[in-house]
Amino acid sequence: MALLEVKNLKVKVEDTLILKGVDLTIERGEVHAIMGPNGSGKSTLAMVLMGHPEYEVLEGDVLFEGESVLDLPPDERAKRGIFLAFQYPYEIEGVRVSQMMWKASRSLGWDMGPMEFRRLLRRYYEVLGIGDFIDREINVGFSGGEKKRSEVAQLLTLKPKLAVLDEIDSGLDIDAVRVVGAALTKAKEENPEMSMLLITHYQRILNYVKPDRVHVMVDGRIVLSGGFELSLRLEEEGYEGITKGLGV
Ligand SMILES: Nc1ncnc2c1ncn2[C@@H]1O[C@H](COP(=O)(O)OP(=O)(O)O)[C@@H](O)[C@H]1O
Ligand SMILES: [Mg+2]
Repeated sequence: MALLEVKNLKVKVEDTLILKGVDLTIERGEVHAIMGPNGSGKSTLAMVLMGHPEYEVLEGDVLFEGESVLDLPPDERAKRGIFLAFQYPYEIEGVRVSQMMWKASRSLGWDMGPMEFRRLLRRYYEVLGIGDFIDREINVGFSGGEKKRSEVAQLLTLKPKLAVLDEIDSGLDIDAVRVVGAALTKAKEENPEMSMLLITHYQRILNYVKPDRVHVMVDGRIVLSGGFELSLRLEEEGYEGITKGLGV
């Protein structure tokens, strides 16, 4: 049984059809990348996988470990092992990173004590070079890059079964891409069974976490899939070059 199976997914946002029939199957331990131009529906797919209420599913299904999750709220999906790193992480005033993460660990049923959990959390935030940030309000006053680092530190801590990373590399300078790339490599080494869905514009991050499959999304559909080499071709030829003659 596949870890994730997306079947003919059609999704509407505010009266506009955005996803027009997406099919995607991710096996346990596989890394998939979705690339595509702005506005093609990549973030919409990520939000629907996590259960954002603004996105209305008109048709199709999302199966996680063989069961439909479309009727489950986001926290229930998180408990089952789905994690989303947002393209634009939310700022939450009045709540510290450590408080939110402690709650998350409790709801996952971890029996670690508060001090032990704090040490673990701090260790992973240190991997991303932002150890002190665990006592700050969530994303408040963080730079774009620091928000992304924080999302990855949360992934390392929570060890999901499926990590959906929406443009984790956008807004990062070259050094930060290296840090984030190395952290994702570490996450995969510590947890080889984890599957990843990397949504990205740029091939660069895929040199760190090499995808088993690469998909190109255009106008709400996956129009082309291939191996790692497809990401290299995209970098060379661009979306227009690569989709020429596909009728999209
Ligand atoms: N919350 C929303 N409200 C209105 N329109 C939205 C919303 N989210 C996405 N869209 C629209 O859906 C389309 C796809 O957006 P998105 O999924 O963010 O694309 P991508 O991540 O590939 O750039 C765009 O035209 C965008 O304007
Ligand atoms: Mg997006």
